[in-house]
Amino acid sequence: MSQILSGKNILCGVTGSIAAYKTCDWVRSLKRDGAEVNVVMTESAAKFVAPLTFSALTGNRTYCSMFDAQDEEKIPHINLARCHDVILIAPATAQTIARLAHGMADDLLSTIVLAGEAPIIVCPAMNSKMYLHAATQENIKKMKRYGYSVIEPECGSMACGEEGPGRLPDWERVRSELIRSLSEQELAGKTVVVTAGPTEEPIDPVRFIGNRSSGKMGYALAEAAKQRGAEVILISGPTQIAPPAGIECVKVRTAEEMYREVLGSVDVADIIVKAAAVSDFRPRECHARKVKKTEADLTVALDANRDILQKLGEIKKEKAKAPVLVGFAAESENILEYGRQKLEKKNLDFIVINDISAEDSGFAVDTNRVIILDRKGGEIQLPLLSKEETAHRIWDAVIGADL
Ligand SMILES: Cc1cc2nc3c(=O)[nH]c(=O)nc-3n(C[C@H](O)[C@H](O)[C@H](O)COP(=O)(O)O)c2cc1C
Repeated sequence: MSQILSGKNILCGVTGSIAAYKTCDWVRSLKRDGAEVNVVMTESAAKFVAPLTFSALTGNRTYCSMFDAQDEEKIPHINLARCHDVILIAPATAQTIARLAHGMADDLLSTIVLAGEAPIIVCPAMNSKMYLHAATQENIKKMKRYGYSVIEPECGSMACGEEGPGRLPDWERVRSELIRSLSEQELAGKTVVVTAGPTEEPIDPVRFIGNRSSGKMGYALAEAAKQRGAEVILISGPTQIAPPAGIECVKVRTAEEMYREVLGSVDVADIIVKAAAVSDFRPRECHARKVKKTEADLTVALDANRDILQKLGEIKKEKAKAPVLVGFAAESENILEYGRQKLEKKNLDFIVINDISAEDSGFAVDTNRVIILDRKGGEIQLPLLSKEETAHRIWDAVIGADL
């Protein structure tokens, strides 16, 4: 499990929606991520989920009232407003949204929102007619003007039997927004191109040459760049991963398609990260019809694909203002030596070396252990980490380097 939110103090505001039970899981996930969580519930929320549930999940007392007899001397709304890095209001009812839009301070949660300085993330959840009502929409616009981040609800069938927008979004979307709100926006104003996944080189309409890349590392790098403020273009080979929200995703299949898309992005990119596992070869011939078992001569002749990284490195030599280049190398022996050779030969700024001989690192697993080399001779050895944490540490290295 990732420890990316380790040491962060998160205040979770729960309001009186039928979706309040989902927040129990979210709080648990935050705890697993290493965060310290406090929960404030509205009076209505406590009719849906017992405060005891949140106390047991967080290990902290759950706050339900502004005029609390416990710790009277601490003034709960001021105290709670001060000591959190981010406030997540989920689910947020139409009533609470109206309260926040009008700057009301008639319960503990709305008073904390006014008294605090931490970023505020609001996840509306309600019947779709309530959500689409002009009053709610106007209130949401107002909250956005105050700088609150509002995560659009999802469409689908709801507890009331209706269909439409109003469902709480997936936790992964909310979690990503939380991480964004806690990140320095060091990549703001930059366009980052990330390639991810394998390529497929067709033999006939049903067969192809591929590789074991899942795309997880590249997708994690794209997501992390977005969280740090970049405009992200993700050029992805075929993967099982859903395109991340807020990222332009260009789907390709073959190495040649990948080549064209990446080269087409050079003029807009400030940084290009080539995490895709691009096939070095393609079948010389792609049969228009499925090759029959009986007619195959059991030999597939191969041609070399164009080397995208090599080409980018050449462009870097010719252009005064070329993107920063981050390459990847999957190695199973002499990994430092081969990595350094590739960095120099391809004229890269950074190379991230994966040791694919280890079972817990590299292709198709959720963890990775990498070494980052830069062109000035710098070397950072990272421990075994989730791919998400590895992605952030790679960005730390790229952002922090003075090349
Ligand atoms: C069974 C039930 C489910 C409800 N679900 C929602 C909901 O999902 N979203 C919403 O905005 N209001 C919902 N309400 C209405 C709110 O509970 C009500 O507006 C309340 O005043 C909200 O107060 P609060 O924002 O202080 O928690 C529901 C009410 C009931 C009885």
